Amino acid sequence: MFESKAGVFLIAGLGCFGLAFVIMGLLPWTIYMDQEEVTVEGLAELGYVPEFVELAERFPERFNACFPGGVSKASYAAALKRGREIYVAEACWHCHSQQVRPVSSEDRRWGPVSKASEYMNELQRPVLFGTRRVGPDLSREAARRSNDWHLAHFYEPVNVVPTSVMPSYGWFYDEDGYPNRDGMSIITYVQWLGSWLDEYPYYHGEGPAAVATAETG
Ligand code: HEC
Repeated sequence: MFESKAGVFLIAGLGCFGLAFVIMGLLPWTIYMDQEEVTVEGLAELGYVPEFVELAERFPERFNACFPGGVSKASYAAALKRGREIYVAEACWHCHSQQVRPVSSEDRRWGPVSKASEYMNELQRPVLFGTRRVGPDLSREAARRSNDWHLAHFYEPVNVVPTSVMPSYGWFYDEDGYPNRDGMSIITYVQWLGSWLDEYPYYHGEGPAAVATAETG
């Protein structure tokens, strides 16, 4: 077998494949296999993002109709799950990433570089890193904008950001123009993104992004 070049390359190729499988597959799996993934209900135990409670206060009747029993850990978990489902179904990930990478000073633009530990829960399975950025990264979106801003923006993005190419999502609203269950869920979900950081709410703090904004005006 080793008499021919082809034989040597075949063995080398198989060897490289085996090594990659061990280092990138087997090794991480053996390191993390004891750690349980946090469920959405487990995340709800950690507390609500304030914007979820604000939705309930702003639209009490609608909120109670959509989430029977009002604000509770169960309704919060339901809103987060539905929000993620919509994010996947509407292909928001086609235009938005959810990973701040350690290159090109991305942390100055969006906030702290993403860590593996941030993705160890049910809402990140599978991860929605995304591969394109037609719009901004959303992994530090929590509290960056108010609920009102999102309400206006999802309804018709160009009304808020005139140059936007983001589509409008009329079906997140009831006929009177206020959010339905899907609308409240997607707003809760985007307000949750990054809320797990100590520095949160990032854009209101003194982090590098805030400094960058101040510098560039
Ligand atoms: C065709 C590409 C595209 C799609 C699809 C898209 N967006 Fe966007 N999005 C953008 C662009 C571009 C911007 C920046 C301009 C603006 O704010 O509208 C943006 C901005 C945003 C912002 C504001 C970020 C900030 O704080 O400035 C949020 C939140 C957002 N998108 C969420 C979503 C969600 C959720 C979905 C799916 C329901 C979605 N987008 C689908 C392109 C897209």
